Amino acid sequence: MKPIEDIEILNDHSIESQPKHSSRKVYIESYGCQMNFSDSEIVASILKKQGYEPTTVPEAADLVLLNTCSIRDKAEQTVRQRLGQINGLKHQNPGLLVGVLGCMAERLKERLLEEEKIVDLVVGPDAYRTLPDLLQQADDGVKAVNTFLSRDETYGDLEPVRLNSNGVTAFISIMRGCDNMCSFCVVPFTRGRERSRDPHSIVNEAKDLFAKGYREVTLLGQNVDSYKWSEAENNKARLEKAGLSDTVGFAQLLDMVARIDPRLRVRFSTSHPKDITDDVLHTMAAHPNVCKYIHLPVQSGNSRVLDLMNRGYSREWYLEKIKRIREILGEDCGLSSDMITGFCSETEDEHQETLSLMESVVFDFAYMFHYSERPGTLAAKKLVDDVPAETKNRRLQEIIQAQGRHSLRRYQREIGTVQEVLIEGPSRRSHEKLQGRTSSNKVVVFPAENKIKGQYVHVLIEDCTSATLLGRIIDR
Ligand code: SAH
Ligand code: SF4
Ligand code: F3S
Repeated sequence: MKPIEDIEILNDHSIESQPKHSSRKVYIESYGCQMNFSDSEIVASILKKQGYEPTTVPEAADLVLLNTCSIRDKAEQTVRQRLGQINGLKHQNPGLLVGVLGCMAERLKERLLEEEKIVDLVVGPDAYRTLPDLLQQADDGVKAVNTFLSRDETYGDLEPVRLNSNGVTAFISIMRGCDNMCSFCVVPFTRGRERSRDPHSIVNEAKDLFAKGYREVTLLGQNVDSYKWSEAENNKARLEKAGLSDTVGFAQLLDMVARIDPRLRVRFSTSHPKDITDDVLHTMAAHPNVCKYIHLPVQSGNSRVLDLMNRGYSREWYLEKIKRIREILGEDCGLSSDMITGFCSETEDEHQETLSLMESVVFDFAYMFHYSERPGTLAAKKLVDDVPAETKNRRLQEIIQAQGRHSLRRYQREIGTVQEVLIEGPSRRSHEKLQGRTSSNKVVVFPAENKIKGQYVHVLIEDCTSATLLGRIIDR
């Protein structure tokens, strides 16, 4: 027999899931980081209880939501252009509601309603639970805004509705917000204070995904190394019942998720060079199913610039971390980074130091940007954005070229090796081929040979480009 609480939960759920508008469709488009894509799945879950079904066709939607990013000016311009296109849809369907969610909603608040007339709803990242009320208001013809930032919202109890899923890999949000104050970054303002999600709900979500056939989860946070759940703020008895200790840090969380099943791969993002610990590296080494790949954004190779960026580490500290990673996890561990060129007052010599750091690490992959000043950030208030656009761009091209050479080198060294690959689906170019990734996060393309997504195969790597490994399955 089920315990009483379970029956009550079931009853509650059945009431909640009564559709209010049974045939409505929502189209959600996500921009920015994986956290935003993951949040869109929370939004879809909240809206599903209101009777909204997700659609991939904007023309078929009653509600169009753009989950936006503010990280660089260009990200915001892209959204504004998209709103212009969606205006056309509103002409065809005057009942269509248009909402802006996410970081741009949080940054611009009511101003967005004045600047973009077609917007009916503006909802910040911590206010998604109020979407049903806001939609009711918008349905009644009153524009609706909620950009309240919370200190404890993690949406930990909600089951995300997976959007555009391959059924094999999924993201699990483990924390929200960021307490670092990197001087260039708008995230602390758009996402609020850092808070960690109950480890019990994280493990349950991963177990549930595994039971549904998923074979890889990526634990997400702006700074996963500062994940911390403690009993003081939360419910000790419940943790004890679940066999968890009263304080859980990232290394422990990783260990807990890795133990669910050896066939479930575990990845995580993003690590911060100042916070990643040996404990995390040892936990990675201890579990074959924790993928040997770390995204460790460096931003600049010069200590003065790093100091101005308020990153909390120097060039030497970063290089020492890389050494530690290679000592504990070996040379094969995948490493990637983010870099910004032309930050306030960056000199030519300092830019050369970014190039020389790249030469000494040789990243597998990197996301590279030129600096874009964001209103309200420490850099916008205290520093001068004085590197000319052409110089920023030229420096960006130089690091992109260096990275291209480095990626090719790192991919070439895999030729002749046998890699375990989790198949994610058909290759983008050919349906006779499949694609998946190695533990170190490199995409591999190979002939299908009757294998299907979700399976693990051993692939002999025979060739590569600077972004893809090519090979053939050697399993009998
Ligand atoms: N939390 C992650 C990064 C989040 S933002 C971390 O701490 O590393 C993703 C990347 O965008 C950053 O690593 C940085 O390289 C870039 N970025 C952030 N703000 C930027 C800005 N104002 N201009 C250009 N790039 C920026
Ligand atoms: Fe932004 Fe820094 Fe936080 Fe990353 S760690 S989200 S770059 S403030
Ligand atoms: Fe962009 Fe917000 Fe992510 S600013 S990078 S969507 S946290």
